[in-house]
Amino acid sequence: MSERKLGVAIVGCGFMGRRHLLGFAALHKAGVLKGEVVALLDINKEVADKVADEAFELLGKRPAVYTSLDEMMKDPAVEAIDIVTDPRTHHTIAVQAMEAGRHVLCEKPLSLTIKTGQIMLDAAKRTGMTLGTAENYRRGGANRVARAVIESGMLGKLHLMIEMWAGGDDKIIISKWRHMKESGSIGIDMSIHYADIIEYFVGPVERVWGRGIIAEPIRYTKDGDESIIPTGEDALFASMRTADGIDVQYTYLPSGPGISHRQRSLHGTKGSMLVPGDRSDGDVVVQLGERKLMGAELIAEIAKTGTHLNINDVTKAVLGPDGTGGKGAPWAAVDSGYLAVEIDDFIEAVLNKRAPEVDGMGGLRALAVVYAILESGVAGREVSVDEVLTGKIHAYQDEIDQSLERR
Ligand SMILES: NC(=O)c1ccc[n+]([C@@H]2O[C@H](COP(=O)([O-])OP(=O)(O)OC[C@H]3O[C@@H](n4cnc5c(N)ncnc54)[C@H](O)[C@@H]3O)[C@@H](O)[C@H]2O)c1
Repeated sequence: MSERKLGVAIVGCGFMGRRHLLGFAALHKAGVLKGEVVALLDINKEVADKVADEAFELLGKRPAVYTSLDEMMKDPAVEAIDIVTDPRTHHTIAVQAMEAGRHVLCEKPLSLTIKTGQIMLDAAKRTGMTLGTAENYRRGGANRVARAVIESGMLGKLHLMIEMWAGGDDKIIISKWRHMKESGSIGIDMSIHYADIIEYFVGPVERVWGRGIIAEPIRYTKDGDESIIPTGEDALFASMRTADGIDVQYTYLPSGPGISHRQRSLHGTKGSMLVPGDRSDGDVVVQLGERKLMGAELIAEIAKTGTHLNINDVTKAVLGPDGTGGKGAPWAAVDSGYLAVEIDDFIEAVLNKRAPEVDGMGGLRALAVVYAILESGVAGREVSVDEVLTGKIHAYQDEIDQSLERR
């Protein structure tokens, strides 16, 4: 491995920032870390200090701790930043860092709105810095296999993809900000992952007819002691059509006690495929008429078609030969493995001056697909992703953009 290590600072040391550190640690443990966590930044020093202590335990070196981006930008060891703050702050942090000559990996959603995301893309173009979107779900073995199955043509001409999550409760999901329109609601926060998977599997989404709703008008803490009134949508429903003419049925409804059902499936003229849950140890199952393919047999069938299976050496080093983490692997180990793969891809992209697998436009497109659902609901008509991406339609987002300008 090359001696050149990219100096990276993690910005935001909350729930996900700590998990990003575990992603770096997974690469370090496997002996494939091409970067170094040289600094941590959080406006809450206590939180950053705690993660710095953990970094010392895991990586053998305590990163510098900052509470101000201005200060951190004076540190020449910081060559790139990994933004893991809440979405309201992504664009301002990213633009300041790129203007200061730093490469940026940014957690999904790339930005809170299309307008602010476009500002990030413009800054990347202007400064020549690398801008990547941290999108983890696609990095796991099962999604890599599923993508290869589609690419191989094994399923014939594809008619339909079903991406659905139905069932949940009235508890606050992870944090209060995820239920407020002005900070990025859970409907967007989760759907962005699925929009990325949809485009990864079946290519660009062109048209969307859908809407968002607030399914749970009151959400409670786990102990039920506190409650909030959500202002942001927690559920999104849509019917989509891709540029290749494939229909996608989309549901995200984390509400309603009762049956909880999740499904990711693809249906074509020669057969169909069921894809297991993200970060689960389930198998991809392909059914071609009477013939059922899974595991080693499916991998062999993909190989016969000459289709590339995108499970690279780093993925194998952190997640095992099939890129899933293996049967019965603890969720946390699988999670950090997925994050390790996305972090490695970004570092490689910077060091080798290539685009990351999910670049700024990849992140913005996924956001546009999600906003197309919400904009369609407001407009009461089918909308094109292009209309959303180019800012021609934005009524749903106006309130958020205005609040970002006010602060
Ligand atoms: N990919 C995934 O699976 C996944 C999972 C969870 C969260 N996320 C994403 O990660 C991001 C962070 O989510 P979270 O759950 O960790 O949020 P969080 O609220 O737990 O943590 C955010 C942290 O950022 C800090 N912060 C806020 N503004 C800052 C600023 N201007 N400068 C420096 N620090 C600042 C806060 O003090 C806090 O510690 C979001 O974009 C979220 O969507 C992704």
